[in-house]
Amino acid sequence: MRLTYTSDVWYKNAVVYCLDVETFKDGNGDGVGDFRGLTQEIDYLAGLGVTCLWLMPFFPTPNKDDGYDITDFYSIDPRLGTLGDFVEFMRTASDRGLRVIADLVVNHTSDQHPWFKESRSGRDSPRRDWYVWSDTPEPDDPKQVVFPDKEDSVWEYDEGSGQYYLHSFYRHQPDLNVGNPEVRDEIARILGFWMELGLSGFRVDAVPFLIENVNPQLANPHEFLADLRAFMTRRKGGSILLGEVNLPYKDLVRYFGDGLGDQITMCFDFIGMQRAWLSMARSDAGPLASALRERPEPPKDCQWAMFLRNHDELTLDKLTKAEQKEIFAAFGPSKDMQIYDRGLRRRLPSMLGGDLRRIKMAYSLLFSLPGTPVIFYGEEIGMGENLDEEGRMAVRIPMQWSKDGGFSQAEPVREVPEGSFAPDRVNVADQKRDTSSLLRWFQLLIERYRECPELAWGEYTVLDTGHPAVIAHRSDADGATVVVAHNLCDTAQDVELKLAGLERYRLTDLLVDGTVDVSADGVVQLPMGPHGCRWLRAAPPEIAPEDASVKAR
Ligand code: GLC
Repeated sequence: MRLTYTSDVWYKNAVVYCLDVETFKDGNGDGVGDFRGLTQEIDYLAGLGVTCLWLMPFFPTPNKDDGYDITDFYSIDPRLGTLGDFVEFMRTASDRGLRVIADLVVNHTSDQHPWFKESRSGRDSPRRDWYVWSDTPEPDDPKQVVFPDKEDSVWEYDEGSGQYYLHSFYRHQPDLNVGNPEVRDEIARILGFWMELGLSGFRVDAVPFLIENVNPQLANPHEFLADLRAFMTRRKGGSILLGEVNLPYKDLVRYFGDGLGDQITMCFDFIGMQRAWLSMARSDAGPLASALRERPEPPKDCQWAMFLRNHDELTLDKLTKAEQKEIFAAFGPSKDMQIYDRGLRRRLPSMLGGDLRRIKMAYSLLFSLPGTPVIFYGEEIGMGENLDEEGRMAVRIPMQWSKDGGFSQAEPVREVPEGSFAPDRVNVADQKRDTSSLLRWFQLLIERYRECPELAWGEYTVLDTGHPAVIAHRSDADGATVVVAHNLCDTAQDVELKLAGLERYRLTDLLVDGTVDVSADGVVQLPMGPHGCRWLRAAPPEIAPEDASVKAR
């Protein structure tokens, strides 16, 4: 069947905005962000143009891993509000046309979860095999340890019951055992519960960890993912799973569901993200272009999720040590900016030295890359990090609403940075008034991205530009074409693109006023300013450019 409506596959050109309720807006003046505060800011988010909110974990938690350590999957952390507040938030979001997805963290629970307490209470506990226990754990492979600053093994000995339990992450996060059918059923129940309250899907934490190392091993671990998706589709068509699957492309495609597209709906493009950073560090299109050329096409109805930064460290784990060093040297030279020997605990704008032109180019590139862009709160105003906060918390700082911070009346849960990224320099209120601000730039990019669905899901071709610092591609869908080019270096460059099939077409710039014509032999000369960005819609000579835009059906 060819007929696909954009609204059916809404996630394919969604703009996903990740936020932590705890640090977004405090509505009751206790210093902790909450659902009431978030609800007050829904109009800000709708005005920005994002279409889907991804909420980081908001469940009851001892908060040893910023909420990724959950003690109750069916409730709200009391610091963030009540289920009633959650429902009011959902109602307001849906009124403004915003979808909401939430983190699904079911690879593990907190060690304070009642299930784990019961499990560890004795070897004959009915919940014993809800977790993964062993008398003789396999020796650790150092690569398995995700947080090497805090852990040196993925097994922890439990004195009380005399066995080791598996924890892929911190020792206070025992791994749930999806080898147990009761656990699989419970996970489905959790999905069902939150979908009933209006969620459109989940960002699935640590997917490969979830289905591996379970007891007994699942005959086909991917069948479990397919089962979950089928369950969700039965309950709510159009609901999605957005997977954290940081694997090489060839291994990752299995998570979409072996050509069938019946497992994870969207996977983050970790490879493209890391190569994009290498390209920016070198001012060389090569690494990113090669990722885009190598990247497999997702099965029908699946999609890549594109990002440059998220709530974790900027992981560079899929690059060589030498490449990591180049990125460290360019964007995070001091030791306290680096973490786990493989990443940076910084936000994008500070990594790019606060250079607005370069920052605008980086986000223009992000929005134009084939896939669905995912942004982290505060990126739209160019927030920096606060290195005084511990580890990855450096980037999870309070949203900067106004000159005085505006996040809370009280002492905030985390500190905002001082200096050039402090709230008096970087905040929403000022940027709303400034037409040349990053916030306004985001609004424009989002508007254009939504108007050009072919960018998100068209067939793309990486173009030769004749200049190593300029990356360009074209996206074609339903006879419509958009051509984009980005100059990664800070000097002006003239590039020449060969655009087969667009001979004599006129290209209309979607970001600034202007047109450029393709020659009779299909060549276009494109002047690119320092860190310049061009998004160009192609129209045949007989159609006036203003009529040529493809409208979402
Ligand atoms: C994922 C999350 C990270 C968390 C970890 C353990 O990698 O992105 O923030 O600490 O899982 O849940």
